[in-house]
Amino acid sequence: MEKKRIHIFDTTLRDGEQVPGCKLNTKEKIKIAKQLEYLGVDVIEAGFPTSSPGDYQSVQEICKSISKPIICALSRAVEKDIKIAGSALKYAKRSRIHTGIGTSDCHIRYKFNSTPEKIIERAIQAVKYAKKFVEDVEFYAEDAGRTNNDFLAKVCEAVIKYGATVINIPDTTGYCLPEEYGIKIKFLKENVKGIHNITLSTHCHNDLGLATANSLSGIINGAQQVECTINGIGERAGNTSLEEIVMIIKQNSHLNLFTNIKTKLISSISHLVSECTGMKVQANKAIVGMNAFSHSSGIHQDGIIKKRETYESINPEDVGIHNHSSIILTARSGRAALDYRYKKLGHFLNKNSLDLVYSIFLRYADKKKEISDQELKIILEEANNKGNNNKNRLQHIRRRINVV
Ligand code: KIV
Ligand code: ZN
Repeated sequence: MEKKRIHIFDTTLRDGEQVPGCKLNTKEKIKIAKQLEYLGVDVIEAGFPTSSPGDYQSVQEICKSISKPIICALSRAVEKDIKIAGSALKYAKRSRIHTGIGTSDCHIRYKFNSTPEKIIERAIQAVKYAKKFVEDVEFYAEDAGRTNNDFLAKVCEAVIKYGATVINIPDTTGYCLPEEYGIKIKFLKENVKGIHNITLSTHCHNDLGLATANSLSGIINGAQQVECTINGIGERAGNTSLEEIVMIIKQNSHLNLFTNIKTKLISSISHLVSECTGMKVQANKAIVGMNAFSHSSGIHQDGIIKKRETYESINPEDVGIHNHSSIILTARSGRAALDYRYKKLGHFLNKNSLDLVYSIFLRYADKKKEISDQELKIILEEANNKGNNNKNRLQHIRRRINVV
């Protein structure tokens, strides 16, 4: 069976940048956009041009600097926004306007003080107007996660009729369960006239930690595009993280899906985005967290040293981590890990030396979080000093490393 391509729509520079305190300037946005292009994303959502002159300028400059991916600009279903988005995109080699409106009862009633009929009319007008500027128009049904499926189908059918090329089904508040989101996508696939001529897109938020699971369920049920961000940054608890969805697709060949992402560039772009936005990646974050390929307990370290696959299902090389799985030395580590780290430093210890060094190491490690290469060298030097006994060895080590 032929594999189906999943398009990666990166919204790090738009939804990702909406995070409080993570403002990016034009130079930083261009730098990230260029890396996204190397990474192989299909679409870069470059910004929301009507939101500020700075964002308009960033979108315009990104259009000039990028040639392969489609450059997309966000707008509300408001003529002024759409016109500004169209203008900001004018230098793009391939451009897309992303326009839309809230479709859930909650949005219709409280946000727009409107009716379902009027919302459909506004959706149609927005798509018709956007078509005056670009051929490629993506429509988002905001809060689709909480929108009644029959009404959602009506909205989708109406905007397809007026030329929408992509339809985005955002779970704006991270409300859906994976099964529910998958059923929604399947329902649209089966009940909307014209749906097979357009691209159906997922856009999931992580309020319950389900963004990636929901996106996965969406593509399994027929969506062809995933909207996501590097490191999963985005409004509130963030968006689907690009590295997670891409690696899930890569690791699970039975899904018969593929993306064009060069996964070996994942680690470097994760660092770049974290550095530019000032948003630290949590240590235990899947794929890109500092501890994602680190092992500190003796049992796991022993297994990893014998065969990496014992405690890792992803090869770190696949996401661009070259120094390979790290063996972190703590008081929970065993002899195998200590021996492994000494070998990496060029010291091949016999059994007696290793026993001696290990006993010193354990007493020292009990006072420390993690033992560095420099500390290992000092421990070994003190162990080799024949005039030492265990007590003064420890005192010497502490003095040399400045530990009280
Ligand atoms: O989460 C959302 O609904 C959005 C839309 C504006 C696409 O970001
Ligand atoms: Zn969003």
